[in-house]
Amino acid sequence: MASANDTRHTQNKDAADQNFDCMFKLLIIGNSSVGKTSFLFRYADDSFTSAFVSTVGIDFKVKTVCRNEKRIKLQIWDTAGQERYRTITTAYYRGAMGFLLMYDITNQDSFHAVQDWATQIKTYSWDNAQVILVGNKCDLEDDRVVPAEEGKRLGVELGFDFFEASAKDNINVKQTFEHLVGMICEKMNESLDASPSLVSNNKGATLSEKPPQQQSGCSC
Ligand code: GTP
Ligand code: MG
Repeated sequence: MASANDTRHTQNKDAADQNFDCMFKLLIIGNSSVGKTSFLFRYADDSFTSAFVSTVGIDFKVKTVCRNEKRIKLQIWDTAGQERYRTITTAYYRGAMGFLLMYDITNQDSFHAVQDWATQIKTYSWDNAQVILVGNKCDLEDDRVVPAEEGKRLGVELGFDFFEASAKDNINVKQTFEHLVGMICEKMNESLDASPSLVSNNKGATLSEKPPQQQSGCSC
C-alpha cells in the first residue's frame, strides 16, 4: 500500500492511470481495529489477512470505477483509528467527498464512538460530504453485540445510509463503495443543477478544487 510519504513512488497501475473523467476523494474512519484497512484491501486488491497491523497515520489506495460510461478515479484514504494520530488524520478530511464511518458489530465501544466520529466529520469536512455508516465483521454473528437494528437506527438519526459488511467474507464491500459513489454523483448533479458555475459550501471548499481537466465532461 502506498503511504502518504510514498505518493511520488506509487507504482500502482490505477494510481498512475491518467485516463479518467473525474476523481473522488474518499476517507475511511472509525475506531482502531474495526477493519478499515481490511475493508480497503478487500475492495482494492480482493485480499484479506487476519493479522492485525495497526495503521500508522494515513495510507491510500486508488481504484478506478466506471459509471454511466465515465471513468471515476477513487482516491481512498485509510486513516489510523488510534487517538494519537487524530491531528494528522483530520487534516485529510477537507476536500473529501465521501466517508465510510466504520464500527465493529462485535465491539460496543466502536459503536458508541460513532457519534464522536460524526462530529469530527461535521467539524473538519465539507457540508456536502456524503457519509455511509458501516457495521463491519458481520461474519462474526456469534460475537455480535450491536444488533443490526441499532446500526440502522443510528444511521437514521445521523442522516447516514447504513450497511453491514464483512471484509473477511467479502459481504457488501463493493456494494458499499458503489453506493457511496452513487450518492456523491447524485449530490454533484444536484449542486450543478442549482449552481452550474460553482459547487461550493460555506467552508470555502469547492468541487472546483479538482484540476479542471479532471472535471470536464464528468457527469455521473
Ligand atoms: P487501525 O489501523 O488501527 O485503525 O485498525 P483498522 O480499522 O484498520 O483494522 P484492521 O483492518 O487492521 O483490522 C483489525 C483486525 O480485524 C484484523 O485482525 C483483521 O483481520 C480483522 N478484521 C477486519 N475485518 C474483519 C471482518 O470483516 N471479519 C473478521 N472476522 N475480522 C476482520
Ligand atoms: Mg488500519
